[in-house]
Amino acid sequence: MSGGAEVVVERVSKAFDGGRIRALDGVSFRIEAGEFIALTGPSGCGKSTLLNLIGLLDRPDSGTITVGGQPLEHLPDDAEYRASTVGFVFQFHHLVPTLNAVENVQVPMMGRHRSRAERESRAHGLLAEVGLSERERSLPSTLSGGERQRVAIARALANEPRLLLADEPTGALDSVTGGQVLDLLKGLRDRYGMTVLMVTNDGLAAAAADRTFALRDGLIRDTA
Ligand SMILES: Nc1ncnc2c1ncn2[C@@H]1O[C@H](COP(=O)(O)OP(=O)(O)O)[C@@H](O)[C@H]1O
Ligand SMILES: [Mg+2]
Repeated sequence: MSGGAEVVVERVSKAFDGGRIRALDGVSFRIEAGEFIALTGPSGCGKSTLLNLIGLLDRPDSGTITVGGQPLEHLPDDAEYRASTVGFVFQFHHLVPTLNAVENVQVPMMGRHRSRAERESRAHGLLAEVGLSERERSLPSTLSGGERQRVAIARALANEPRLLLADEPTGALDSVTGGQVLDLLKGLRDRYGMTVLMVTNDGLAAAAADRTFALRDGLIRDTA
């Protein structure tokens, strides 16, 4: 029943601790291709759990998730899905500290049938897209918080994902820097047309999205 929608989540439930923690309790929603969705809700309401399920970092107890018309429980290749269908951006950048910016962006491209020259050229291009051409050889420790997050965004786009999952990408940034990162994400969506699902507790970030889903008590309230 995907009906052309890019992401279809149907009655998805997920519990932890032998059922004591009901993180998600029959969540359903659909996202159209190219939409920029903000997912809001109080701490502990299951937002990260939901992103992890859509990114196939974890499995639901029940319910189905379909991305690009493919039910995640029947994918031909889970690793391929994680590496190239979805891109992840987290609150904290998770860059490899010993690799410089242009090397970090190449990490997801390793072992993916791209020559070294192709990888390097693509990483150069992506860093230019996020406005960091001047910092290609910089280690993460020498970059500002906003710059690190830009590198993380470039890395998430390395394999041209159709779906970008961002878990509080501005949560560790001041409001000005966070706004710049948000503008970058929206600009990339406009240019590449990928679908974006972004967890945020920042009202400005939510206001910038096409639609907002509010998650509460394991259920979605679509506040359009
Ligand atoms: N791996 C896990 N093991 C046990 N409990 C977990 C695990 N992941 C999440 N939880 C619990 O599930 C609930 C939802 O967590 P989470 O999805 O991280 O919320 P949010 O991202 O909205 O803050 C919380 O009560 C959290 O403690
Ligand atoms: Mg979370």
